[in-house]
Amino acid sequence: MLYIASDHGGFDLKKLLKECLREREVECIDLGVDSRDSVDYPDLAAALAHEVQNDKDNQGILICGTGIGMSIAANKFSGIRAALVHDEFTARMAREHNNANVLVLGGRVLNPRLACKIVQIWLDSAYEGGRHQNRLDKINALEHAE
Ligand code: RB5
Repeated sequence: MLYIASDHGGFDLKKLLKECLREREVECIDLGVDSRDSVDYPDLAAALAHEVQNDKDNQGILICGTGIGMSIAANKFSGIRAALVHDEFTARMAREHNNANVLVLGGRVLNPRLACKIVQIWLDSAYEGGRHQNRLDKINALEHAE
């Protein structure tokens, strides 16, 4: 299942991305927020990260103003590989090389049409495995680093 969540800074883009997903018949579960009222983005990042941790087939999209806070917060959770993406190339790389299970976008940074394209590319791309798996294994090992 695909989950989506934002803070107030990402609320408008979330609304628009849900329309893009609906047009493409991609189902998603919206974990909030439901208005532009100010909230703390780590709360939304945590809610989505827990869902992605629950099932290896789950993935998520997080949006805040810049995408920076959401990516910092989401990457605190074990097993989460959250990638802050700004263009089509990094959307593809985030999946092919990094197997990102969370896509992070900046609602105050991205043109909405580009954001839709980024989501589509990330959803359609496939993890290449191979030499990249060794690197992801090393990232997993860093979760226990002091
Ligand atoms: C909220 O004003 C803003 O700080 C947040 O959306 C995000 O950009 C944080 O990184």
